Amino acid sequence: MSNYHIKHLEEYWQVYRKSVRHPEHFWEEIAEEHFVWRKRWDKVLEWDFDTPIVKWFQGGQLNITENCLDRHLATRGNQTALLFEPNDPNSPAEHISYSELHQRVCKMANVLKSKGVQKGDRICIYLPMIPELAVAVLACARIGAVHSVVFAGFSSTALATRIQDCDCRMVICSDGSYRGEKILDLKSIVDQALEECPEVSTVLVVQRTLQDIAMVQDRDFYMADLLEKSSADCPIEIMEAEDPLFILYTSGSTGKPKGMLHTTAGYMVYTAYTFKNVFQYRDGDVYWCTADIGWITGHSYIVYGPLCNGATSVMFEGVPSYPDFGRFWEIVQKHKVSQFYTAPTAIRALAKENVDYVNSYDLSSLKVLGTVGEPINEEAWHWYNENVGKKNSPIADTWFQTETGGIMISPIPYSTPTIPTFATLPLPGVQLALMDHEREEIKGNQVHGKLCIKFPWPSMARTIYGDHDRYRETYFSAYDQMYFTGDGAMRDAVGYYRITGRVDDVIIVSGHNIGTAPVEDAINEHPAVAESAIVGYPHDVKGNALYAYITLKESGEDRNHDNLRKEINELIRSRIGPIAKMDKIQFTQGLPKTRSGKIMRRILRKIAHDESNQLGDISTLLNPEVVESIIKGAMI
Ligand code: WT7
Repeated sequence: MSNYHIKHLEEYWQVYRKSVRHPEHFWEEIAEEHFVWRKRWDKVLEWDFDTPIVKWFQGGQLNITENCLDRHLATRGNQTALLFEPNDPNSPAEHISYSELHQRVCKMANVLKSKGVQKGDRICIYLPMIPELAVAVLACARIGAVHSVVFAGFSSTALATRIQDCDCRMVICSDGSYRGEKILDLKSIVDQALEECPEVSTVLVVQRTLQDIAMVQDRDFYMADLLEKSSADCPIEIMEAEDPLFILYTSGSTGKPKGMLHTTAGYMVYTAYTFKNVFQYRDGDVYWCTADIGWITGHSYIVYGPLCNGATSVMFEGVPSYPDFGRFWEIVQKHKVSQFYTAPTAIRALAKENVDYVNSYDLSSLKVLGTVGEPINEEAWHWYNENVGKKNSPIADTWFQTETGGIMISPIPYSTPTIPTFATLPLPGVQLALMDHEREEIKGNQVHGKLCIKFPWPSMARTIYGDHDRYRETYFSAYDQMYFTGDGAMRDAVGYYRITGRVDDVIIVSGHNIGTAPVEDAINEHPAVAESAIVGYPHDVKGNALYAYITLKESGEDRNHDNLRKEINELIRSRIGPIAKMDKIQFTQGLPKTRSGKIMRRILRKIAHDESNQLGDISTLLNPEVVESIIKGAMI
């Protein structure tokens, strides 16, 4: 039996049972056999979910880049580590071998050092999907700097908030980025953000699009100039197991984004382990995850998990629709991709197009398909299974979160029988619980409840950077001794899990988490707006679309509504980013409120779903009369 690589269902159950009975022993064996340590740990696990504290492999010392790079040099130095496929289909792909990647990481790490970066410093990375993004992430990790990657589709305000929140003094960005036919001006977004971030003293600029950009004297430097003078010899910084590795922001249901802090050893062990099993990666395979490294999926399953396993990981700069909707499949054919991992929203968008886009390419190299980010609907699942997998490649519907660091629920392809829309079974080491309204655990099968996790796993986020109270409050206060995920789930007759969606005020649009509060804050900034509430409603490509109910101030009542809608969406774009723009905006006389003044989003959600005949009892509202007028004016 192999604990590290599960190959059939019986083995899964054996490994799972062992991981629950003796979690510490289970993870210790894996940590020992499959990774390089500079010093062995003294204690496998210390935890309590009250404080909460979680520490894995305390006393252990290591560097994650030694595990991702150095240890592979002797055995697979010439093998491709990163396979970069550029936006332009006519530009050649770049095969970056393990030894070349090692060199590039060492050089960039030395550049960071030459600019004064020290262990523990936070570095903001705002780069498109080009190799330098992965190199920058690893360069930080090599010298013990904490990377905070901000998705390069976020606005300058969102970027500034994230830079300030974790006090970054350095930003690594590019001049611009290619997205299909568009060229985006990233450096000017950075410049604008930095007007609010006087603490940032250094900006390193990677040239990608070669457009004209402003360079601030003594602050901004071209990365290429510095790399040229930099040595390729950079010894690792020896890190403690629980030293911070990175911060990654995720939107919450209230207030500012949460900087989830991940640490070194547990994150490494768990992401490597889950990568191996969920994708059944074998030597020679070419693995492709289409996510952006700006999200947790990219951190864990483009960079760290694959590289720890010595895999070949594809990085794609472009979009699925350029030059046409066959691009994904053209890439699969060209690079003989064996594992393909994408999001339901991408599958739904592609399923709308002519199926010839898929059928024109040879996809016979595919062995495993994956999805992540939101529940996959049955239709999309079947389209994926039939047209992409030719009913021959199992689909891993993988459930996880920025907070969990790695995949928690997923079939093990070729072992776990799959059922559409079910993420199926917890991975080894993952102890799930469903909770009822009385905050008790629901035992048995064929039940539905709020999804919790009752035992620590190695890659869980350890805190919200700078706000441990909020961490406890958000994840550990709803249920005693449990981590609460914010999702609802059902467990079927055989124990399979199906994630039913968020139970808090987070709306998932095209796989992106949108917290209602920050978007409402942006809307409320408009001088004509008195109050707003946003809800999601079903959308056949995006999963959810956004619907805003807005009441205007008296001064705004005479304004042209279409102009107002444009201005409000523009405001959202500039404060958060284009992904958070509203699909529908309805101006109302008031918003339904409880007697304590809380907006009843449930009612607004029903109206947006065109289910206003199912509102239930609204007589306890403070202002039941507004509901009728909202229904009349609804934009459905
Ligand atoms: C939320 C986490 C995990 C990587 C990308 C999103 C939803 C994620 C699934 C899935 C149903 C899913 C959950 C979760 N989600 N994967 N396979 N089935 N829902 O990371 O931005 O932190 O979002 O995404 O609601 O809580 P994230």
